[in-house]
Amino acid sequence: MDRRKFIRNSCTACLTATALGGILSSCTATKYISGKLGKDGLSVDMTEFEIKQKGKTAHRSFIIIRNDALQYPICVYRISEKEYSALWMSCTHQGTELQASGDFLQCTAHGSEFDNKGTVKNGPADRNLRNFPVSISGNQLFIDLRAI
Ligand code: FES
Repeated sequence: MDRRKFIRNSCTACLTATALGGILSSCTATKYISGKLGKDGLSVDMTEFEIKQKGKTAHRSFIIIRNDALQYPICVYRISEKEYSALWMSCTHQGTELQASGDFLQCTAHGSEFDNKGTVKNGPADRNLRNFPVSISGNQLFIDLRAI
């Protein structure tokens, strides 16, 4: 292989590895589930928050529930072992679906931001997100959707 071909092949391999690394890390960052939809709400197994690595268990700060029966996804934040928040991912400004990023939800339409309890932190939105009651029973979270 001549020098020029070697450099071109090496650069292609590096770019491919970098792109795949970015895709893989973003895939592991956000977990999407459908939950179990019942008459009054959704049930979620709390193990969905767990990340097992090298014999240890860490926890995701949030998961996203996408269910065909719901108009918008619900972002469920794990605030602590016994405190969770379930937020309707519809921007209170004009209804754009929000993007979760760490402990914030952001709107790509006009830049509104909400914290992990749904409180508006940056406008133009001027109302907090819809926040559904969450209860814990055994190893299950129950998200009460009767208010939808
Ligand atoms: S629709 Fe979200 S900021 Fe306008």
